[in-house]
Amino acid sequence: MMIKTTVNGEARTFDGDPDTPLLWYLRDELGLTGTKFGCGQALCGACTIHLGGTATRACATPISSADGQQITTIEGLSPDGDHPVQIAWRELNVAQCGYCQAGQIMQAASLLKESPKPTDEEIDNGMSGNLCRCGTYPRIRAAIKQAANATAHSGKGGL
Ligand code: FES
Ligand code: FES
Repeated sequence: MMIKTTVNGEARTFDGDPDTPLLWYLRDELGLTGTKFGCGQALCGACTIHLGGTATRACATPISSADGQQITTIEGLSPDGDHPVQIAWRELNVAQCGYCQAGQIMQAASLLKESPKPTDEEIDNGMSGNLCRCGTYPRIRAAIKQAANATAHSGKGGL
């Protein structure tokens, strides 16, 4: 089965095993190593990408379910690393070891697309599947709020 996807704006085809986890395809075939392997069981969020615009665990998604879809990884979230979430993340120095952070940022960007002004509860619910061993949760929450405010004030949307 020939699988066709668009990854970070580029058309791609894959004709290997349709059960190949999307995470391996992105990392090993395309060299997009910003997306991390944590648990491999949809339990940690380190591998979060956008599939059809929605946060998705790439470790637990066979490439066959991406057929005909748009995939965005951390490398493609913004051409210049200037997505409002990335700006807020830098301004608040959210990352500690960094391992979980690509997944956190992709989850946060997806959350803000659905809820441009999330409440604390919406942030907690939206981010609850993304674990951080370094405990950066308070900064993650603050950065999501800052990104939401920045987007509201710029009037650009852009999420
Ligand atoms: S590696 Fe995919 S959720 Fe943990
Ligand atoms: S920053 Fe280290 S695991 Fe989250």
